[in-house]
Order: sequence, then C-alpha cells, then structure tokens
Amino acid sequence: MRALPVIKWFLAGLAITGIVGLAIFGFRGTRSSAPPIEIFPDMDRQPKFKSQQPSPFFADGRADRPPVPGTVPFDVPVDNPYLTTGIMGDRWGDGIPLTVDRALIDRGQQRFTINCLPCHGALANGKGIVQQYGFNVIANLHQPRIIEMADGEIFNTITHGKGQMGAYPHTRPEDRWAIIAYLRVLQKARNATIADVPAAERAKLEAAKAEPAPGATNAPPSATSPPTSNAPPAAVPAPSPPKP
Ligand code: HEC
Repeated sequence: MRALPVIKWFLAGLAITGIVGLAIFGFRGTRSSAPPIEIFPDMDRQPKFKSQQPSPFFADGRADRPPVPGTVPFDVPVDNPYLTTGIMGDRWGDGIPLTVDRALIDRGQQRFTINCLPCHGALANGKGIVQQYGFNVIANLHQPRIIEMADGEIFNTITHGKGQMGAYPHTRPEDRWAIIAYLRVLQKARNATIADVPAAERAKLEAAKAEPAPGATNAPPSATSPPTSNAPPAAVPAPSPPKP
C-alpha cells in the first residue's frame, strides 16, 4: 500500500484538534432550561438532611440531631472532670484550666462573637441585637454578681443554659474556657484604671493621650453636625442688636 501523503495526515490532525477543542470549549457558558444529563444521578439526588431543616423522621421534627447524652469529643481528655464540667469536688471551681495566653483570649473573642454577642452584645453588657427584637431579659455580664461568679459556674451556664438562656453544649469545652477568659478580659477592662496598666504600656498610653489621634479633634461639634438626640433644639435667645 502506498504511504498517505503528508497533507492528508495534516488535515486529519487539524480536524481532530477542532473536534476536541469544540468539545471542551464549545458549549461553555451556554444556558439551558432543560435538566442536565445526569450520568450518575444518585450524586445529585440523594436522601439527606440539610442543617436547620425540619424532618418528619424524628419525633421532635428537627433534622439536626443533638449528640447522644454523655458524648465527649474524641480528643478532649476525660480524666480532667474540671475541664469538662467546671466542678471541683462538690463546688464550682475557679480558674481557667488551660494556659491563658494571647492565643486563648483571641480564640475566646472569636467564639464569644459567634455564640454570645447576638444576645449579650460585644461589650457583654446585655445589649445585643436581639434586644431590639423584644428579648430584653438578657443578663448584663458586668454585674458584680457575675464578676464574682466562679469560672466553673459560668462554664456550667454555657454548657447547660440558665433560666431564659439556652445551652451551648456544641461548643468545645476548651472554647467555653476561652470564652470565659475573654469575658474576664471584658469585665476587667471595664473596671480598670491606669494603675492596672503595666508601667511600660502606661507611658505609651499617656503619650497617645497627650497627642490626639490623627483625624480626632477636640473642637466642639460644628453647627452642621447632626444633633445627637431627637429632641428639638432648645430655643436660643436671639442676639441683642449692636449698641449704637
Ligand atoms: C439567645 C440569647 C443568649 C445567648 C446567645 C447567650 N446568652 Fe447568656 N444569657 C441570656 C439570658 C436571657 C440570660 C439571663 C438568664 C436568666 O436569668 O433567665 C443570660 C445569662 C447569662 C449569664 C448569667 C447567668 C446567671 O447565673 O445569672 C451568663 C454568665 C451568660 N449568660 C453567659 C453567656 C455566654 C458566655 C454566652 C455565649 C456562649 C451566652 N451567654 C449566650 C441570653 C443569651
């Protein structure tokens, strides 16, 4: 058989490249209202529960299942009951059973923001956003009673809830302690005086106070600044005419 001329191979190659190119890029971005071709339809349609959705399968009608009572995260030590209960012997223990460092407090701030802020507010003063929707029995966590409360009791409140407050058992025990450490920071910060600041930091604060931050001004608000209350402005006596 005579060998095919080179040109035929070239044309065949060009045609194949064209078909492959069209197959890959040709229909990109094309819209269709027809259902897609499902080669393995079981991956698209599967019986499953989506989070926060109702389910007729369970007696309580919720798809989300709470952990079985007594469940312990697999990597939480079970031999330190204080870490997982807040109880020491026969009373609430005090103290954070983890190393309290910047990392723990940052973690606590993050977890507080996610779990507690909607109700207790960023300052933990009980003025979270839900208050505006009528939930106004939220505890102000700066009350002396809570400042003095044992850490273990607060741990228990987060784990099991208290009164009108629901339980947060899905938070990891270490995170509950991190939240408490951060809450202590908020409480301390609110009642702190300059005497609580370490000497080195104090100098920095004093310097910052002497020199106002860029953009900040001590000038009284100008006449064009919006009123801070909705009350009508108090009547201002008209200036007396200049004396002749
Ligand atoms: C859905 C709103 C809500 C969220 C979220 C919430 N709380 Fe509360 N919390 C409350 C209410 C309401 C009370 C007052 C409970 C009562 O006295 O009935 C309260 C009370 C408390 C108390 C005082 C309990 C006592 O002994 O009087 C502490 C401490 C507390 N919360 C901490 C937390 C922490 C920490 C978080 C985040 C993990 C949190 N709360 C999340 C609503 C909430």
